[in-house]
Amino acid sequence: MRRITLTQYLVEQQREKGVVSGELRLLIEVVARACKSISNAVSKGALTGLLGGAGTDNVQGEAQKKLDVISNEVLLEANEWGGHLAAMASEEMEHPHQIPNRYPRGEFLLLIDPLDGSSNIDVNVSVGTIFSVLRCPEGVKDPDEKAFLQPGARQVAAGFAVYGPSTTLVLTVGNGVAGFTLDREMGSWVLTQPKIEIPVDTAEFAINMSNMRNWSAPVKRYIDECLAGKNGPLGKDYNMRWVASMVADVYRILTRGGIFMYPQDAKHKEGRLRLLYEASPMSFIVEQAGGAATNGHQRLLDVQPERLHQRVGVILGSRNEVERVSGYYKPAD
Ligand code: F6P
Repeated sequence: MRRITLTQYLVEQQREKGVVSGELRLLIEVVARACKSISNAVSKGALTGLLGGAGTDNVQGEAQKKLDVISNEVLLEANEWGGHLAAMASEEMEHPHQIPNRYPRGEFLLLIDPLDGSSNIDVNVSVGTIFSVLRCPEGVKDPDEKAFLQPGARQVAAGFAVYGPSTTLVLTVGNGVAGFTLDREMGSWVLTQPKIEIPVDTAEFAINMSNMRNWSAPVKRYIDECLAGKNGPLGKDYNMRWVASMVADVYRILTRGGIFMYPQDAKHKEGRLRLLYEASPMSFIVEQAGGAATNGHQRLLDVQPERLHQRVGVILGSRNEVERVSGYYKPAD
């Protein structure tokens, strides 16, 4: 069987489909290469003494893990010198990271969540890296936070890696979604899912049930209906899955369908997940795979960001189910 690598896939997207420029191809390859080293560091677990906290907090006041800090550094270093980036922003840094003057600057902005789900590292559950690529606004020489405040619909590429039993990479350049698996011996990303499509219907939901007392009426109604099973209004028995690593939960939905919810609630008034480097890239990927993504009121890709580290409510996955839930929302919810 002929194996198609990430490089070949991108060259084909560039040559035949015209959706990838040389600069964007370099950017994606550099990010994917950085993900290989993060995967390597994560897979060593306790052997390298890298489990546990770094003793610092990130900008959202969350305790950073050693591997959060290392993954961030790996991605920054890998992306600084190539000439493809105008600036980078990360969950782990309060302000955008400027490209040092000794390197040329490019036309793209890169946003990253270097190690999503990092509370799962120490317990050996899947974690991952999420990234989103935007174009730097015309005429902006030194991109500050404002340059990054673009709705998700303007992304030119998005993807995420999952460091699980196997290491996988999911990618969209706006022409469908492809999945790659890391061949560790060869050191290459091999195309294993050429065209990922999310089934439109599902009987599997993912939500952190411990937030139930804080939920809004539409969320409560939907989950009650799921729990009512075959004899309830939805007419089927539902299963629940919650990994608590968004990368793993979304990967499952891309593989076999489902609905993932981290909605705004009485405790998470703005939502829990970050708009620019979690919700936006995942929404782009999910829509490109035929699914839907909303905050209940609005398509997530249309939300105009106001702050770099802004949070947002997220409901995404199998189209019919996501549309059902957003149909339950009223303007006041
Ligand atoms: O934003 C990081 C993250 O770990 C997501 O990957 C995950 O979906 C969520 O937080 C889980 O949060 P909690 O444990 O608060 O429900």
